[in-house]
Amino acid sequence: MGKTCSLLVVLTLCVVVVIAFSFTSVEARRSSHMKKTKPQKHHKHRSPPPDFESSPSHQTPPLPPYGPFPTQSSIFNVLSFGAKGDGISDDSEAIVAAWKAACNVPLATVEIPSEYKFLIKPITLQGPCMPHLVLQIDGTLIALPNVGAWSKSSLYQWINFKWVHNFTIKGTGTVDGQGSNWWSLSQVQHIKKRSNYIPNMKPTALRFYASYDVTVQDITIINSPLCHLKFDSSNGVKVNNVTISSPENSPNTDGIHLQNTQNVEIHHSNVGCGDDCVSIQTGCSNIHVHDINCSPGHGISLGGLGKDKSIACVKDIVVEHINMQSTLYGVRIKTWQGGQGSVKNVSFSDIQVSDVKVPIIIDQYYCDKNHCKNQTGAVAINGVKFDQIIGTYSVQPIHLACSSGIPCTDVDLINIQLQQSPGYRGFQQALCYNSFGKSQAPLVPSSIDYCLGRSGNAVKRITKSHDNIC
Ligand SMILES: *[C@@H]1O[C@H](CO)[C@@H](O)[C@H](O)[C@H]1NC(C)=O
Ligand SMILES: *[C@@H]1O[C@H](CO)[C@@H](O)[C@H](O)[C@H]1NC(C)=O
Ligand SMILES: *[C@@H]1O[C@H](CO)[C@@H](O)[C@H](O)[C@H]1NC(C)=O
Ligand SMILES: *[C@@H]1O[C@H](CO)[C@@H](O)[C@H](O)[C@H]1NC(C)=O
Repeated sequence: MGKTCSLLVVLTLCVVVVIAFSFTSVEARRSSHMKKTKPQKHHKHRSPPPDFESSPSHQTPPLPPYGPFPTQSSIFNVLSFGAKGDGISDDSEAIVAAWKAACNVPLATVEIPSEYKFLIKPITLQGPCMPHLVLQIDGTLIALPNVGAWSKSSLYQWINFKWVHNFTIKGTGTVDGQGSNWWSLSQVQHIKKRSNYIPNMKPTALRFYASYDVTVQDITIINSPLCHLKFDSSNGVKVNNVTISSPENSPNTDGIHLQNTQNVEIHHSNVGCGDDCVSIQTGCSNIHVHDINCSPGHGISLGGLGKDKSIACVKDIVVEHINMQSTLYGVRIKTWQGGQGSVKNVSFSDIQVSDVKVPIIIDQYYCDKNHCKNQTGAVAINGVKFDQIIGTYSVQPIHLACSSGIPCTDVDLINIQLQQSPGYRGFQQALCYNSFGKSQAPLVPSSIDYCLGRSGNAVKRITKSHDNIC
């Protein structure tokens, strides 16, 4: 709190004022700009692709589809910018060229047409652009399948959206990261020996960086080498009706990954992958995740937070109306020992679990090796509600392992009804270590009822004292 926060408030206000101003001027410029540039747009760039005749759906020229005034939108079809769409030719330059042209026009659409497959190398699609830019993905984008073909500098991500705002991705198409070669360790080790592989570096499929007011809807994202859809240092994100899919045995392939990002709604989507369906990392706040099917995967996670004694701040998270089927975890908060900062005001509610190994978990001893050094510091956890978590589990219903130095406080367990999955043996009891709060019936198994400690003021003081760094 204190200085840092008031400084933040002032900065935020400045940003808002600047944005408001630039929007006003953009709107003002828009009407005059459009009259001048619009008419020739489509004709100038339209030369049919070689296999134009073979695809009946492309025999009609792309018409501006929106609004009563056709001149208010402009379609930039990548085929008109030299893309082949045969799945073999490198169409990266064509996409970047279409993007750059569309970027300068308000209400423009970059069209990735259906029934074509575009092989794309790692690219950056950069803003700022004129408002209302749309990337319409109806066809398929595929990444380079051969690990060795990725240059060292391209290993962070495949398609990088940078500094875009008021931007939408939509369409019925597919973004295919072709990650299978990345997942198999042997291939990666082979590559490592002879060329440019950096250990533990794998590309994310779609990454947004420093972007705001962004919508991603309807598309399918599959087989990413690492994260499928990542938002980094962004603000104002909507993800709606997307399908994300990679196999259960694809390591580290998060579905949707948020980092340093605020004001997010993720909803009505199907996510299945080899790691977290939704992963919420440090710097995130006001995140609303709802109506998601998660299967397979590691569930919905906050963290790992506080690695290498870092400061982590996460707050105001709502996760509700979720279906989880045969996932490793359900809803989870994981922090490393030795971290700083806090997680607060988190609500997980109406989570239906079916054959989930551990549906409810707080793990403040998160560790990616066999064992990590014991450390006293921890990311403080305060105010976490688990409400209406219902279904079946196969290992342990609840596992709350809080830091021995800094207890978890205001942890509420309300209406938890977890039955054992049929056919499993060796179930573990509910575990709550150094975890305080209140529970409210119905609670099944009944051991949940006396799992939490009642938090006295002393306990709350310890947590509060570690809370002021965020
Ligand atoms: C872009 O701005 C317009 C008008 O302010 C708004 O209606 C629209 O939802 C915005 N689009 C995105 C993706 O934020
Ligand atoms: C969801 O996306 C699919 C395309 O992937 C589309 O056909 C469908 O109409 C969308 N649903 C809604 C409710 O928008
Ligand atoms: C907790 O988070 C929710 C959702 O972001 C928000 O509406 C609410 O105001 C927050 N509560 C507090 C006490 O900050
Ligand atoms: C860390 O602390 C726990 C609990 O006090 C103890 O069981 C464990 O053996 C310790 N681990 C190491 C590596 O010191």
